[in-house]
Amino acid sequence: MKKVRIGVMGAYRGTSMINYCEQADNAQVVAICDKWVEGLERQKAALNDPNITYYTDFDAFIRHDMDAVVLANYANEHAPFAIKALRAGKHVFSEVLPVQTLKEAVELIETIEETGLIYAYGENYCYMPAPYEMRRLYREGKLGEFEYGEGEYIHNCESIWPSITYGQEDHWRNNMFATFYCTHSLGPLIHITGLRPVSVIGLEGTKTERRRRVGSKTGSFGIEMVTLENGGIIKSVHGSLYKDSIWYSVYGSLGRMESGREDAGENMERIYVNTDAYDGEYTHNVISYKPAEKAAEESASFGHGGSDYYSMYNFVQKILGDETADTIDVYEALDMSLPGLFAYRSVLQGGVSLQIPNLRDPEEREKWRNDTACTDPKVAGDALLPTCSKGTPVIAPEVYKRVYDLWRKDFEADDGYTNAAMTQGSKKT
Ligand SMILES: NC(=O)c1ccc[n+]([C@@H]2O[C@H](COP(=O)([O-])OP(=O)(O)OC[C@H]3O[C@@H](n4cnc5c(N)ncnc54)[C@H](O)[C@@H]3O)[C@@H](O)[C@H]2O)c1
Repeated sequence: MKKVRIGVMGAYRGTSMINYCEQADNAQVVAICDKWVEGLERQKAALNDPNITYYTDFDAFIRHDMDAVVLANYANEHAPFAIKALRAGKHVFSEVLPVQTLKEAVELIETIEETGLIYAYGENYCYMPAPYEMRRLYREGKLGEFEYGEGEYIHNCESIWPSITYGQEDHWRNNMFATFYCTHSLGPLIHITGLRPVSVIGLEGTKTERRRRVGSKTGSFGIEMVTLENGGIIKSVHGSLYKDSIWYSVYGSLGRMESGREDAGENMERIYVNTDAYDGEYTHNVISYKPAEKAAEESASFGHGGSDYYSMYNFVQKILGDETADTIDVYEALDMSLPGLFAYRSVLQGGVSLQIPNLRDPEEREKWRNDTACTDPKVAGDALLPTCSKGTPVIAPEVYKRVYDLWRKDFEADDGYTNAAMTQGSKKT
């Protein structure tokens, strides 16, 4: 089988995609890029593969002879690198999130349209067994028309914060706003229904003690109340509440289906389907099962319930010409992520409902083409937003020093590439 030649940017989370290529028969890693030399060296030693070239500079990396790149760099910097990669003729797989501003959204869409290359958004949670089965059932009409849904991605990252922020005050995880990282909770519901979000109301968790003591300047959690094009409503909640949860629930005109909550242990992969066709009487007809997977064996060792396997598999298959490969294109990626951007504007305006533009329409792009509002000073210009609605907090340098020391201790004690629960055995982040 022809192998797609892939370059991976980001030697940390990128390990999962590197592992995919090492195991798969449809792809191979030919180049890896990270400006973090120590991390790159560790990756090189672990892989011990003479067919891989290593780069610290993206502009040199992107000139490597390869078909596609995986962007597993900072979550708020994907769009500029995606645009550069597309302009260099490479297909792109982007980790979450796709953009941090509306300006980037317009530029990214237009570059993809101009180049005609494949862009796949790596929202792996869509491919977890339960939400993926919910999608299949919904598309079959089992649930009727979508009316209401909920998505939760709760991860109390306090214990791993050192190994995912390295004590860097300017790390994106410390400076994002509460509704930014919204696609693990909202994305699967968009992928299930295929409906476009049209408006959003945002809310921000303000009990931030646990966040501040590890250096995060963000609200503790974010909520998007999203209205879809058919009038259906989604509640998406994500962030750092005390107890973890990954959970999806969908109500339609014929009933309800939901996944097991995290406390259900291995039953998290179960779905519960309660539907009937009303003919004067309602029935209580609950069916519960663990969905069969398309590639259970191949995906078993991959993180996030095996979903890390499927997002990459579909991307590679799409490049190989399989039109049926289920990838998330740029329009759907923005359907999953723009609600988070507008939810924060809603928070800053006291919780008003805001329209979400349909950037599929070239005319709608004009209003947003120069909109740089975000919390990243390198990008925002005079449109810099506070990292939480009460203002950007000031955190003592000693906090970052303590986090840095904890990270170094862990990193130096670890002789593999596993300490951050970040790579392929991990369940989350
Ligand atoms: N989908 C998931 O389940 C999941 C899980 C974890 C992380 N992520 C995503 O993966 C991405 C990476 O996160 P992470 O936790 O590995 O850590 P991170 O964001 O701290 O690391 C990114 C890596 O990219 C490198 N990098 C950044 N800019 C670079 C540049 N200009 N040139 C070369 N290298 C550069 C950094 O040195 C670092 O090693 C983020 O987008 C995050 O949202 C997704």
